[in-house]
Amino acid sequence: MTLKLLEIDPETDFPDISRCMFESHETPVQPFFQAFFPTHGHGDQAREDAIAEGAARLRSWHTEDPTSYWQKVVDTSTGHIAGAALWNICKEDPFAEGHQMEVTWFPNDKSRHFVEQFLQIYEEPRARVGRRPQVYLFILFTHPNYRRQGAAQQCLNWGMNKADEMGVEMFLDSTPVGKPLYEANKFHVIEKTVIIPQVDNPDEKWKEAEKKIGHPTWWLMWRPVRGHYEEGVTMKPWEKN
Ligand SMILES: CC(C)(COP(=O)(O)OP(=O)(O)OC[C@H]1O[C@@H](n2cnc3c(N)ncnc32)[C@H](O)[C@@H]1OP(=O)(O)O)[C@@H](O)C(=O)NCCC(=O)NCCS
Repeated sequence: MTLKLLEIDPETDFPDISRCMFESHETPVQPFFQAFFPTHGHGDQAREDAIAEGAARLRSWHTEDPTSYWQKVVDTSTGHIAGAALWNICKEDPFAEGHQMEVTWFPNDKSRHFVEQFLQIYEEPRARVGRRPQVYLFILFTHPNYRRQGAAQQCLNWGMNKADEMGVEMFLDSTPVGKPLYEANKFHVIEKTVIIPQVDNPDEKWKEAEKKIGHPTWWLMWRPVRGHYEEGVTMKPWEKN
């Protein structure tokens, strides 16, 4: 079996990418995923609807965002997608014009407010320190059937080469599951965030969303220009002056 890194075809690949992404975040179950790609309701049909909505949304995000770059890792013996990555290749400060996503994937009630606040807390550390051109890793997953065979590493190698070619920094927000991969690649932790949205008098919709998504932990991780980080020596551009 060979795992090959390829560009995606945006016309045809998103349904398979979405399914692979769901299955990848179900083993182990990662409740944070529900904030981005929720399953509303229970049972097989609800899950299929969520996968289809995910595919449509990934496609429109990709089409509407000029920084978006998707790649897939394919098992060449079967043609199956083994994993994929979504990068934002930012030639300018990605936060220059503000950056607020409309959370259309939750109904317009307090569950949406929960997720809006969730995303603000999630994005705040990078919006504070990452105000320069950069390569940002937004989504990365490998299907459970293909773990520890270098699929994610192939994607990451591409991203590191791209950043070196552009002469820019890299950022990513790591889950506990992703952290060993990034540590193995010498990414440096900038800060840890536990996401706890707050509201006075939470209603049932807020509480439902909170129960489903929980209070996940994230690490903002950084790779300086050309990748070599040395504590006390490497300059952190956001600490200048
Ligand atoms: C994190 C994830 C993408 C890793 O994918 P993968 O294809 O299995 O990773 P690779 O085989 O390319 O691993 C490369 C190196 O990273 C490190 N690594 C990866 N997974 C690891 C794990 N579970 N434990 C310890 N080290 C790990 C190892 O150093 C590994 O090299 P080695 O296998 O030679 O020791 C995969 O586990 C996944 O999809 N998880 C669910 C989705 C998710 O959480 N994505 C990350 C969001 S930040």
